[in-house]
Amino acid sequence: MGVAVVTGANRGLGAEWVAQLLEAGHTVYAGYRTAPGRLEVLAHERLTIHQLDVQDKGSVQAFAEAAPHEIDLLVNNAGVADGRWRDLTEIDDEWALEVMDINALGPVRVVQSLYHKMSHDGLTKVAMISSLMASIDDCHMGRSYAYRASKTALNMFTVAMKKEAIEHNISFVILHPGWVKTSMGGDRAPVEIPASIEGMMSVIDGLTLEGSGQFIQYDGEILPW
Ligand SMILES: NC(=O)c1ccc[n+]([C@@H]2O[C@H](COP(=O)([O-])OP(=O)(O)OC[C@H]3O[C@@H](n4cnc5c(N)ncnc54)[C@H](OP(=O)(O)O)[C@@H]3O)[C@@H](O)[C@H]2O)c1
Repeated sequence: MGVAVVTGANRGLGAEWVAQLLEAGHTVYAGYRTAPGRLEVLAHERLTIHQLDVQDKGSVQAFAEAAPHEIDLLVNNAGVADGRWRDLTEIDDEWALEVMDINALGPVRVVQSLYHKMSHDGLTKVAMISSLMASIDDCHMGRSYAYRASKTALNMFTVAMKKEAIEHNISFVILHPGWVKTSMGGDRAPVEIPASIEGMMSVIDGLTLEGSGQFIQYDGEILPW
């Protein structure tokens, strides 16, 4: 079992990533933006936690410097919603840019800062936690403008980065966790947090260098762009 890094790990899906990665025997380095939250409960000899705000370059740099020297898995999980059902007259450009910054550029900053620790002889896997709402083909209901656009941008950043990263033994997967019962997904969501993470862990287990850059749902279904 290798070293895994998880962002946005204090609650929701991020905290469950940490729990299940520890359970599977990984050493985990986890980032929290404001407070450690569930990470305090998960305390373990193989778990190290560190402050990380993916919007703040200084914070990303400090997080990367304190990270273990060789990383085998990065889960770029941190993300925000955009105030879901606003209509187009209410799109707020400042908040839209902030959502883009957190959801699309945040994960890119984390990849950039950890890149030298991920390029080693073994295969390193990077999971970008996107959403079905990124899919242009699947955008039947519209709305959620900034959230959708930020995750579509994340997908394109990822596919573009994979070309370069293959040369360094780094393989990307773009994951949709399902509609999951977290504070972002809400109570009506049909998928429980543990089932979503179990599914995504199994997708990651099967990831190869040749298969880099696919857009996959937690249950293994390949999604349309
Ligand atoms: N739940 C769903 O149905 C669903 C569906 C599709 C995709 N997703 C994606 O899955 C990921 C996790 O979502 P979730 O449902 O677990 O959401 P959540 O419960 O709202 O958790 C979001 C996490 O991201 C962190 N975060 C937000 N902004 C950050 C920043 N600037 N820097 C670092 N951390 C930051 C939050 O930290 P704080 O506690 O400090 O705010 C929190 O730990 C997100 O990328 C989301 O878009 C979720």
